[in-house]
Amino acid sequence: MSVLRKKKIENILQEAEAHVGQDKQGLKKVLGVKDLTFLGIAAVVGAGIFSTIGGAAYHGGPGVSVLFIITAITCGFSALCYAEFASRVPVSGSAYTYSYVSFGEIVAWIIGWALILEYAIGNIVVAISWSGYFNNLLEHVFNIHLPDWMLVDPQTAVAAYNKASAALASGATLSPEELASYRFAINAYNEAPRIGNTPIFFNLPAFIIIALVTWLAYIGIKESKQSANFMVIFKVAVIIFVIVAGAFFVDTNNWKPFMPEGFTGVLKGVSAVFYAYIGFDAISTTAEECKSPQRDLPRSMIYSLLICTVLYIAIALVLTGMEHYTRFQGVDDPLAFVFEKRAPWIEKIISVSAVVATTSVILVFQLGQPRIWMSMSRDGLLPKVFQKIHPKYKTPSFSTIVTGVIVGIGALFLQSDLVTDLTSIGTLFAFILVCGGVLLLPPIPKEEGKFKLPYINGRYIIPVLYVLFVYFFRERIVEAFQNIGHEAYQEILFLIFLVVALIIAMKTIVHKYSFIPVMGVLSCLYLLIEIPAVSWFWFFVWMLTGLAIYFLYGYRNSTLARSAD
Ligand code: ALA
Repeated sequence: MSVLRKKKIENILQEAEAHVGQDKQGLKKVLGVKDLTFLGIAAVVGAGIFSTIGGAAYHGGPGVSVLFIITAITCGFSALCYAEFASRVPVSGSAYTYSYVSFGEIVAWIIGWALILEYAIGNIVVAISWSGYFNNLLEHVFNIHLPDWMLVDPQTAVAAYNKASAALASGATLSPEELASYRFAINAYNEAPRIGNTPIFFNLPAFIIIALVTWLAYIGIKESKQSANFMVIFKVAVIIFVIVAGAFFVDTNNWKPFMPEGFTGVLKGVSAVFYAYIGFDAISTTAEECKSPQRDLPRSMIYSLLICTVLYIAIALVLTGMEHYTRFQGVDDPLAFVFEKRAPWIEKIISVSAVVATTSVILVFQLGQPRIWMSMSRDGLLPKVFQKIHPKYKTPSFSTIVTGVIVGIGALFLQSDLVTDLTSIGTLFAFILVCGGVLLLPPIPKEEGKFKLPYINGRYIIPVLYVLFVYFFRERIVEAFQNIGHEAYQEILFLIFLVVALIIAMKTIVHKYSFIPVMGVLSCLYLLIEIPAVSWFWFFVWMLTGLAIYFLYGYRNSTLARSAD
């Protein structure tokens, strides 16, 4: 079937060389292992740890630290598989290119389309968080108050206004905090400029940061690298400081009960915790700007993941040790929150650091998205202009601007909640295909200086792990069967997972699949089915739109299709 046409690794490498040769239009090769590790940390440590961990800690209690370990292991399997591909196919397309080699064109397109969720849509969430921190900083440190209508998206503003009006009209007794927040919503609504009768709301700071970072990504990878290095040193120093300072305030009684709502409560934080790890894979998009991608990319992905894991587990334990987990309800700046009363000056440092941390995440994702589009355009799946490289700055100029416009407009007007789940689904989907893709690669001998994924025969371990999983989750399996008729979509997803995992376990017995990629597929699949079912609906809508575009454009214009003609 032609939609499954595959690219050969040799051809990809030759094409990448040819692009460098053409009028010397290649990208600048300036990144070493240290820069790449820093870029990885730059992309990982951001809104997740500075914000979404609050809700996860509220549901999971101190046990959320276990979720950080489980998620790190899951990401670890995927990082090793990314590393294997990065070593074999050192070009800029990341999971997109890797799928083109292993599964064929249509899967590659699907994954390229899903990666837009991780990078461009994911960056909308980060920009909105950035705006929240930035405003916090302006108000608490510099005493500057921007008008509320330029700090919020229209849906959030209108929903808050309706809720506030209803609450005030009901005559119910309201706490001073509720009263203040409702007055705030109503003032924002009344003060907003209007077109006709419609009030206008937008998130201006979120737009401005996207514009500034897009400009940085446009003018050069070297400038981006230097800025990212600086930001990483600053944010990691602050996080280590928070861990050390926070350790003095830990009361071990707060760690009991460790999992107040059981493992189910811990799992409620899956999407948030996974979100906090997203980003180490983004550095694979810079393969063509690395001095020695086959050696350095794999190492840096693993180093950045390890460093972030250690920091995250320590932060989770310190936060839940400093405050009882129940106090994290609705807290979206948990790091600052725990120091609010104890040491306000630390809270201020954290506010600055949150702004810096989220800026660096935005930067790496704004670098990643254009490079994926560049690869897709080289393959004919997107128009040629997406591969245009700036003659002076040597960056994919057109794609960088398009990324800036899409993310900037999204950040101005969109609401962030649903988008976080979509980002996690899109990324997990990419991870699954990368891990699965490794299973399809032909074996090659180890070469000096290149990473090679160790082969561990999964034939016995995987089926044993499957049986253990079924044993430990036996109650949930029974419940899932009992609830099947009651629109329990989450339970249906769980049962689908069991069936798919069984098939994979059986295939592993027959084909002696390698343990690491199979575990990568299974663990990502598991996290995937724990994400709320409503987000799946939007994910399918997104994917169907992508497929329609493929059949209208990419299917006919693909370079592989043309060369076959
Ligand atoms: N991991 C990135 C963050 O937490 C996406 O901001």
